[in-house]
Amino acid sequence: MSVNGNDDKLLEAAKAARDNAHAPYSKFKVGAAVQIGDDIYTGVNVENASYGLTVCAERHALATAQAAGADFKETTCITIVTEAPCPTPPCGACRQVMAEFLSSKTPIVLHNLQDNSTQKLTLAELLPHSFKTSHLP
Ligand code: THU
Repeated sequence: MSVNGNDDKLLEAAKAARDNAHAPYSKFKVGAAVQIGDDIYTGVNVENASYGLTVCAERHALATAQAAGADFKETTCITIVTEAPCPTPPCGACRQVMAEFLSSKTPIVLHNLQDNSTQKLTLAELLPHSFKTSHLP
């Protein structure tokens, strides 16, 4: 992917983070990087011997940004890197967590290391009719 310099930086950050994924059970490493203002926050999947405790890379990246006090209104893009037969979309849980922090127009870039292919979607495309705080009384 070479859309512009920022996209390249985000892709490189997600790739570098992916190397640190803890995926001894699935062997499926995932790296995520979110651009917020001038800053990039990364996350990886962190598995556990008690499988259900696994944290996905996307949610990890968003939590890292939250811990750093990032202003999510300045989010421009989130990039997810896997090595698979095709670009890997985020799981349903991650989509719902993205809906909490990101605008529905946020580009979500899926990059596949296997064939260097990239797919670009928006959160609205991935999770239409999401449940939001505005639905709470
Ligand atoms: N995984 C992610 O990190 N993000 C997703 O959106 C889908 C799945 C991880 C969880 C687990 O460690 C591995 O990929 C296989 O499911």
